[in-house]
Amino acid sequence: MSAAGATLVQLTDTHLLNGGALLHGRIDTWARTTAALNAAARFFPDAVLVTGDISDRGAQVYSRAAKLFEQAERELGCPVIVVPGNHDPAGSVGAAFNRKRLASGPNPADTVHLVDGLRIIGLDTHGFRETEGRLSGRQLQWLLAVLKTPAPRGTVLALHHPPIDSLLPALAGRGLARPEELAAVLAGSDVRGILCGHYHLPATGSLGGIPVWIGPAVSYNHDLFASEGSTRGLDPSWFSVIKVGAGQLSATPVQVAIPVAAFTREVPVPARQPALL
Ligand SMILES: [Fe+2]
Repeated sequence: MSAAGATLVQLTDTHLLNGGALLHGRIDTWARTTAALNAAARFFPDAVLVTGDISDRGAQVYSRAAKLFEQAERELGCPVIVVPGNHDPAGSVGAAFNRKRLASGPNPADTVHLVDGLRIIGLDTHGFRETEGRLSGRQLQWLLAVLKTPAPRGTVLALHHPPIDSLLPALAGRGLARPEELAAVLAGSDVRGILCGHYHLPATGSLGGIPVWIGPAVSYNHDLFASEGSTRGLDPSWFSVIKVGAGQLSATPVQVAIPVAAFTREVPVPARQPALL
């Protein structure tokens, strides 16, 4: 972590498949996930967050995925923090993941990490073959107890289902159920941001005044102009870079396969001017 704060790279909705299968017959999601992890090195992350839908429809990819994330931990020199999504069966994100956790919660994928004073809490929002995601009463009680002690540089939550609704009609009502319960637990806490995935469409919002970032997906992202009653996946693959500084948080979507530049122009970095007295 630099003096400016922590850099988090968020990959979400990788939708990995077995046996060389392509997602929707066209998308090599292993290649996209590997490319995103390789590209992450450019940003020198203090942690990588993988916010769910590791697998597509519960395909048994978890031991290979755990090995890939372990390799990324070695190469990037930072922890890879993983939570499951609605495509990941109960217990799939188990002991092979989150090896650098400080503590666990009621579910194996509820984990606490500390990165140079910034606390990152991963939450399992369940939802396999269910309409919505959910946090149980036990999870909320556990989270409340953990948050009673503030972290030196505050806390960020990582969970799959956003606690705010989607603009996409096909995903409306499919986020986190009863978000007001999470908002009540977070009120007055040191939580500085809530990082989610699930919608395959980047968006931002807030819950009880806390910023919410919904990262674009590694696998594909939705076309808002698909004809009514259908969904259409757009090809580009994205991840997010989140900066958590003193009193500031920013999230930047990053396209993995960089488009060809239309032009290149040298721009000097402006020197900081002293304040006029
Ligand atoms: Fe997904």
